[in-house]
Amino acid sequence: MRKKIVAGNWKMNKNLAETGVLISELKTTLEQSSDAEIIVAPTFTNLYYAFEELKGSDIKVAAQNMHQAEHGAFTGEISASMLKSVGIEIVILGHSERRAYFGETDELLLEKVKTALKHDMTIIFCFGEELEDRKSEKHFSVVETQLKNALFGLDAASWKNIVLAYEPVWAIGTGETASPEQAQEMHAFIRSTIAKAFNDSIAEEVSILYGGSVKPANAKEIFAKPDVDGGLIGGAALDAESFAAIVNAI
Ligand code: PGA
Repeated sequence: MRKKIVAGNWKMNKNLAETGVLISELKTTLEQSSDAEIIVAPTFTNLYYAFEELKGSDIKVAAQNMHQAEHGAFTGEISASMLKSVGIEIVILGHSERRAYFGETDELLLEKVKTALKHDMTIIFCFGEELEDRKSEKHFSVVETQLKNALFGLDAASWKNIVLAYEPVWAIGTGETASPEQAQEMHAFIRSTIAKAFNDSIAEEVSILYGGSVKPANAKEIFAKPDVDGGLIGGAALDAESFAAIVNAI
């Protein structure tokens, strides 16, 4: 059975002291073990600290990005082996903010995916259409192309390391969320696209998270949809109580 997952993407928020506070609040608020796998993604400088603090808890730690090269003259970048060396086994790739502000293309993301797989990391792969695409009813084809370019060339065995996060760009940080029906419709489309490109068992096993203005007030309805396996949470993950409420909505 596929996994339920709730992941908190902290983006460029929380310094070391604030990270410490949020982690200790999460440890007490999330003390009951949940049905969902719980993941938090602090910024690079706090990954090692977060990993050490959360050792032995039910909360896993992910990175928000990584570079595709193994090592070398790439000033300011972080490699897969650096992440692994501080205990990080999960990486978010392809977030729409990376695509929009840092020029990450499907081709580049394919390189990053390959490198992460080489290091046996789990990838939370983000994709989703922009508002214009939805208005012009191109959302299905945009999503299909994003998946095809970055993931459909992989071998079937790689899919055990892949988690998908459908995040319509128009719903990220805007307070605007896809309706549960819109999320379900797209998630079902994604699953059938994967079934066609690979096979039914890969399509059935892959967890597909929804992301974009998930809050305690709307999480239950969205997570109740059969093809929605959890969420990637931005703003609401920065507060322990609201993140816990979302985890409990699974
Ligand atoms: P949001 O962000 O929940 O603040 O909309 C989601 C994301 O960017 O992953």
